Amino acid sequence: MTAAVIPHPRWRVPLLGDVLGTSRRTPVQDTMRMGRDLGPVFTRRFLDQEIVFVGGAALAADLADESRFAKHLALGVEALRDVGGDGLFTAYNEEPNWRAAHEVLLPAFTQSAMRAYHPTMVDVTAQLVGKWDRGGVVDVSGDMTKLTLETIGRVGFGYSFESFSRAETHPFVRAMIGSLRYAQRKNFVLPLVRKVFGREAEERYQRDLAYLAEVVDEVVRSRRGSGGSDLLGLMLSSGELDEVNIRNQVITFLIAGHETTSGALSFALYYLSRHPEVAEKARAEVDAVWGSADVPEFEQVAKLRYVRRVLDEALRLWPTAPGFAREARADTVLGGRYPMRAGQWALVLLPLVHRDPSVWASPEAFDPDRFAPAAVKARPAHAYKPFGTGERACIGRQFAVHEATLALGTVLRRYDLVGSPDYRLRVAEMLTLKPDGFTVAPRRR
Ligand code: HEM
Repeated sequence: MTAAVIPHPRWRVPLLGDVLGTSRRTPVQDTMRMGRDLGPVFTRRFLDQEIVFVGGAALAADLADESRFAKHLALGVEALRDVGGDGLFTAYNEEPNWRAAHEVLLPAFTQSAMRAYHPTMVDVTAQLVGKWDRGGVVDVSGDMTKLTLETIGRVGFGYSFESFSRAETHPFVRAMIGSLRYAQRKNFVLPLVRKVFGREAEERYQRDLAYLAEVVDEVVRSRRGSGGSDLLGLMLSSGELDEVNIRNQVITFLIAGHETTSGALSFALYYLSRHPEVAEKARAEVDAVWGSADVPEFEQVAKLRYVRRVLDEALRLWPTAPGFAREARADTVLGGRYPMRAGQWALVLLPLVHRDPSVWASPEAFDPDRFAPAAVKARPAHAYKPFGTGERACIGRQFAVHEATLALGTVLRRYDLVGSPDYRLRVAEMLTLKPDGFTVAPRRR
């Protein structure tokens, strides 16, 4: 075997690295652009750090081999460690609390658990409808964030952020967004510069983190001894997890459980507003499956196969968690060509994997039929990974899919989605992706 050299962008700036033509606000989209020219694997250097990106489906499939690779906490995920501690998402593979919490929490994500959450999910969706029925133009990402945060708060922990009744953003939400934004920025600012110029921001960050902990501790205290089979009930009654870990899990679920689903719903609504023929077909399915029921039963949501394909296709083009990192368990050779030492890692850049032309025909086109069963079967495994891979893949996948399919079905059935014809999709990046400035005027059918 001859080891192949991994390409990098042509113009490297001394000291800074591959920064030309890139913006702090759009690191994912900038890297996508570079990857289109550089091929299925490439590197980018930031200061003294060289990052390997994988955008080809075959190499991503090789990284999915659990016997040779494992999750790595890189960049944005590592930056979240301050916020999520040893919670499931930011736990290191070898931390004993990861397995303990994974086992305690798995029962909260079974089909029977989803069935139990269904009425609360319906209730929160009705609050969205209440708001949209009042008419006017709505900010889609903003309202989807209200929906998903309210859902995970109430379903997971019996806590309402009063997202649809408050005039102003809940202080917990403000602190959460503030700390996420700061953690993200830390990736791009040199430690010394941060120390000298960023004292005020660092202090605000510490205040935000303390406030998040305080609110969560209060919720936990109020629930001690009262049982329940939601996420918090399971954690409290198991006796397996310490107090700090439970707090970390609650904060982790509040964050991981809403941002990505909100973005996925927003992209799906964007594509529905741009593809009336798809919206018509999806709506016909909702009408047929839900019939005259005011409120769908649990099974009636799972039966919305075409609506589900719309969601899958939106997550193909814009996987709202745009990447995940994999590290070599021992010295190995990626794809039979690229040697990796034990501990070395690569970042799977999902929007490129999901548009790899060797797997996806006309990859830029929105087409939910790519997820018809025969088409899925004909595709190589691991070409579509919006929920990650292996043991550390998303525990909340079924939760997100049920919640989002219910919301899309409800909205399709009730409204025509009239988007502004002048709007051009802009994708905002803050750890996750979402459409920026996308509004619709929902009109009752
Ligand atoms: C992990 C995506 C919804 C909770 C992950 C990972 C991805 C992902 C890619 C793996 C990250 C890595 O390897 O570093 C998504 C997407 C969602 C979604 C695209 C929605 C469309 C949810 C929901 C919840 C959730 C609704 C909770 C209710 C988690 C947790 C982990 C995780 C706790 C860490 C699992 C572990 O390492 O044990 N998610 N997620 N996610 N997700 Fe999700």
